[in-house]
Amino acid sequence: MDKLIIEGGAPLLGELRVQGAKNAVLPILAAAAMAGGECVIHNCPRLRDVEKTVMILQRLGCGVRREGGTITVDSSALTGCVIDEGLMREMRSSIIFLGAILTACSEAVVGMPGGCPIGLRPIDLHIKALKKMGVSVCEEHGYIKCSCGRIRGCDIHLDFPSVGATENVMLAAVKAEGVTTITNAAREPEIVDLARFLNAMGARVTGAGSSVVVIEGTESLHGAEYSIMPDRIVAQTYLIAALMTGGHIRVSDARPEHMRAALSALSDMGADIREDSGGIDIRSRGRIRSVHIIRTMPYPGFPTDIQSPFMALASVADGTSVFVENIFENRYRHVDELVRMGADIKVEGRSAVVRGVKELYGANVEAYELRGGAALVLAALAANGRSTVTGTEYIDRGYEDIEGCLARCGARIHRVGC
Ligand code: UD1
Repeated sequence: MDKLIIEGGAPLLGELRVQGAKNAVLPILAAAAMAGGECVIHNCPRLRDVEKTVMILQRLGCGVRREGGTITVDSSALTGCVIDEGLMREMRSSIIFLGAILTACSEAVVGMPGGCPIGLRPIDLHIKALKKMGVSVCEEHGYIKCSCGRIRGCDIHLDFPSVGATENVMLAAVKAEGVTTITNAAREPEIVDLARFLNAMGARVTGAGSSVVVIEGTESLHGAEYSIMPDRIVAQTYLIAALMTGGHIRVSDARPEHMRAALSALSDMGADIREDSGGIDIRSRGRIRSVHIIRTMPYPGFPTDIQSPFMALASVADGTSVFVENIFENRYRHVDELVRMGADIKVEGRSAVVRGVKELYGANVEAYELRGGAALVLAALAANGRSTVTGTEYIDRGYEDIEGCLARCGARIHRVGC
């Protein structure tokens, strides 16, 4: 297993380009399995989860090739409808394949999903919606077995605006008989990206980005060419890194309209932020101020995925900040590691109180999940002295070449294999 060695204290300076969005590329690759032809997808980040998704597509019988950031998926010979337990366990988002495979094959057998250990992460909303669409579902021996005739369009109300459930219903509905209307749909920008790709494949999806998404079933789909949106969580992580190190960077390709909640909090904390159509500039204006309260919410609220990097930031701010994690119940695993670096954080249930300290110090810490791991890297960049971050396999799920990106802006960071 690799580890990251970080010598803290160097301000980040320069420009970096944000990678394509992990949470957009995964459902879009799954959607490509339904095309019955060739899809050319640009701006695909090099991430472990993307490589796993490619493996799933290959097991299903798709031809897949990667050239640089472009992945070409040929689903004209899709034959399989089974995703084994091993691959499903490694990546929760593989549940998205359920809707796609059902559309392509009318049956699907997938292992129960896994993913980062950040909470229960049930799939009841996915299953309830699919059943309403006429899919018969049985769960046995760690597998979910589904079959259907032609999927039926219908009205689906989600009890919670789940990102994955919204995407799964969209995938199941594109070739369904009749119209599917999802109410209380997730409004994340990645849902919009998926809808655009589906429409490029010949689907008829409207309303994505609002809480009502309407999918009119179509008889056939075809191949398409598409470019994945920039990753808003990665962009925000690098903006925080610049602020924490007293630096000044430009994150090109970042889309400010996708990150209003975080940009507003960063500006409250004292960042000087300039936006234009090509990216975002951030400059530190001295000591960071605490943030009154951060409550994670479904989009356009404050994203759960950037809660832990913000907590690293708040731990060196002037004053006390309060966090309330409303989306995942176990998303504070980074706290003990930040405390090892000198942070003053108390957790009570879903709330955390962070009293800012003058400085963090380098330590040996371990990432237990993706975004919590990124938070540790940020803390180490700002800390006094040397840190070692293990558990890099989690960080690599979502950040392409994190050490290269940061080092190009002056961070003293490198990776060693163990
Ligand atoms: C997606 C993102 C993840 C992000 C999350 C919330 C991908 C690949 N991952 O995950 O990075 O943190 O959105 O923004 O896009 N829930 C249920 N039943 C269900 C489904 C979800 O109770 O059937 C609950 C979950 O336990 C959780 C909440 O709904 O508490 C949000 O989950 P969801 O929006 O589905 O997240 P994911 O799609 O897994």
